[in-house]
Amino acid sequence: MGSLKIQNIRKSFGHVDVLKGIDLEVKDGEFVIFVGPSGCGKSTLLRIIAGLEEATSGEILIDGKKVNNTPPAKRGIAMVFQTYALYPHLSVRDNMGLGLKQAGKPAEEIKERTKIASAMLSLDDYLERRPAELSGGQRQRVAIGRAIVREPQLFLFDEPLSNLDAALRVNTRLEIARLHRQLKATMIYVTHDQVEAMTLADKIVVMNKGRIEQVGSPMELYNSPQTLFVAGFIGSPQMNLIDGAKLGDPAAKAVGIRPEHIQVSNTSGSWKGSVIHVEHLGADTIIYLQTDFSPLTVRLFGEHQYEVDQVLYATPDAGRTYRFDDKDQIIKA
Ligand SMILES: Nc1ncnc2c1ncn2[C@@H]1O[C@H](COP(=O)(O)OP(=O)(O)O)[C@@H](O)[C@H]1O
Ligand SMILES: [Mg+2]
Repeated sequence: MGSLKIQNIRKSFGHVDVLKGIDLEVKDGEFVIFVGPSGCGKSTLLRIIAGLEEATSGEILIDGKKVNNTPPAKRGIAMVFQTYALYPHLSVRDNMGLGLKQAGKPAEEIKERTKIASAMLSLDDYLERRPAELSGGQRQRVAIGRAIVREPQLFLFDEPLSNLDAALRVNTRLEIARLHRQLKATMIYVTHDQVEAMTLADKIVVMNKGRIEQVGSPMELYNSPQTLFVAGFIGSPQMNLIDGAKLGDPAAKAVGIRPEHIQVSNTSGSWKGSVIHVEHLGADTIIYLQTDFSPLTVRLFGEHQYEVDQVLYATPDAGRTYRFDDKDQIIKA
């Protein structure tokens, strides 16, 4: 069990309102990701769930039981941080087992649980090493192992991959996804990286300035962003956002078109533009155009040759444009 309900959580530090009323439900076994720009309140919310920070108002319920006044150690939660926070003088084995030892578990049980976690994380060959003798990726696996041995109902991860290099990030991401399938535990994971969110989550919670902008599956957020912020935040390269008035659509403050939903032609199309820059990514070609109303990013699959200053015509795919009103909300078709 590990369901979570957050009701109207607010948090202020002095006069600064950091969380402005957060409501959210997380089902048992779900993998939920909080994503949003740096400073939007993700860590604060996670720390309130963990009990490391007190909410100014609102309620946190785990499995239907209010835990606002329950100390962190009694909430059935394990948290993994960006910095691994391992004890340098302890071996990998002892780092992983320390929490259980402090909780007074028998040595046999600690040994057994450490063994299971170490096998899951491919750490068997490193159990006698000290943290200083491990790579960054291995250290983060030890920190995850330390969480697993506690058999929590709820795992909380705060940007656990941010200190790893790009290749290791992808590997560790796959490992966390596998762990989630294996453990069937509820996981809440914070990241500022929308790609990480899109690849891991059952459910993404997009946060901005202390509020939830939208909750949905990765494909719901990609296909049906409800706000201008979500439209711009999810997807890479970023969605083109064009002043509606410049397209003869004054009812729309912004018209959004994803770069992959624009086709180009040398001879004809909706909009004329000239090439400013071309990026050859191998699998994709990204073309930056300047039209007379706005810059436009186009993403074509595969390799294409275009020259800077070349004239191209761009045409948006039918039915794949989004319109937003002056309150930054989607205008329903
Ligand atoms: N202990 C604190 N005292 C004062 N301000 C804080 C404290 N912790 C966080 N903040 C502020 O709250 C805001 C949200 O921070 P945080 O939750 O860490 O954001 P995120 O994790 O999304 O980057 C930031 O503006 C940050 O400066
Ligand atoms: Mg943070």
